[in-house]
Amino acid sequence: MSYREHFEQIVKDQIARIERMKEAPKASDFSAMEKIIIGTIDGDGIGPIIMDACRKILEKLLKEEIASGRIELRRIEGLTIENRQAKGETVPADVLSAIRECDLLLKGPTTTPAKGGEGPNLESANVTLRRELDLFANVRPVSIPEKNIEWIFYRENTEGEYALGSRGVDIGEDMSIDFKVTTDIGTERLARVAFEYAKNNGNKNVSIVTKANIMKKTDGRFLDICMKVAEDYPDIKVDDWYVDIMAANLINDLFAANFHVVILPNLYGDIITDEAAQIQGGVGTAGSANIGNRYSMFEAIHGSAPRMVADGIAEYANPASLCRAAVMMLRHAAMTEKAEVLEAALDKAAAELDMPGDGTGNTATDFTQFVLGQID
Ligand code: IPM
Ligand code: MG
Repeated sequence: MSYREHFEQIVKDQIARIERMKEAPKASDFSAMEKIIIGTIDGDGIGPIIMDACRKILEKLLKEEIASGRIELRRIEGLTIENRQAKGETVPADVLSAIRECDLLLKGPTTTPAKGGEGPNLESANVTLRRELDLFANVRPVSIPEKNIEWIFYRENTEGEYALGSRGVDIGEDMSIDFKVTTDIGTERLARVAFEYAKNNGNKNVSIVTKANIMKKTDGRFLDICMKVAEDYPDIKVDDWYVDIMAANLINDLFAANFHVVILPNLYGDIITDEAAQIQGGVGTAGSANIGNRYSMFEAIHGSAPRMVADGIAEYANPASLCRAAVMMLRHAAMTEKAEVLEAALDKAAAELDMPGDGTGNTATDFTQFVLGQID
């Protein structure tokens, strides 16, 4: 294929994606659903260890709902790096159809092969799932009560650098070009959920983060659309920041507590939310929700920690991040009381257990026993 045909194909595919977004189903109403299927996906590395902890906790927390059949916790097998590489598919077709039969997904971290690594250079399973299930809003809360910090990040989850991250081109021997895409509808639906959250929680401040001075087309569009959505929320204070100074602001004690709801394009959201989680106490402490209309997927924000596995200390992985994601899942599914019970237990575990992730302190099993003991 010539470069020109390749680019034409990309443009056609993105126009088709806009059409699909226009036809997306309405958001599910979980309180009206008789049965909710929660698919659990172990993932790679420390994934099976932290998921085992999380499943045991959910089985106890939801024992009545599981017994009555309102909730099913269903194991989804096969989203492992071995199976994905053997099949040469980022998310093997049979695994994707099993996933599509669920309503909610709780997912452990999956390994993404780096360019130049061994085996087929697959796209990230996260990126594929977010795209295939149209999980457009990545919601990541960070709370640091002693600093008066309550941040909630709304990261765009299907566009930006990620939409075409696997479709860049090498040109000749010595040049590469990647593509970044921003659409009105993709930005608007994200901005809308962020502003709705801000409105429903006492008109919290909204900050929009881009690098629109440099990425004039894509980030420029993102900023314009967010500002247009803001016009529908005249009681909300809105400001906009470039991503570099935002990275600095988050660690500036004079400013940090002024931010509440933060809206970001995909890649900046990826970076800033790791920073924010680290400020909270580490990437092992923060949950992450990938929200779409039909499906939603909840996961830890950290990766599969291959170094912990290689060093033989996987048992010391902290399930807290995945469990925080489960709290977000319960809230999303209108099971607020259950979410609160689990959240209180996790806060207690955070205060009483010592899990630095370096092979010292408490193990994932200690964590599970502790949390189970809190949710009688
Ligand atoms: C995240 C992760 C993913 C991302 C990786 C695993 C592809 O870092 O969820 O933030 O870059 O989005
Ligand atoms: Mg990330």
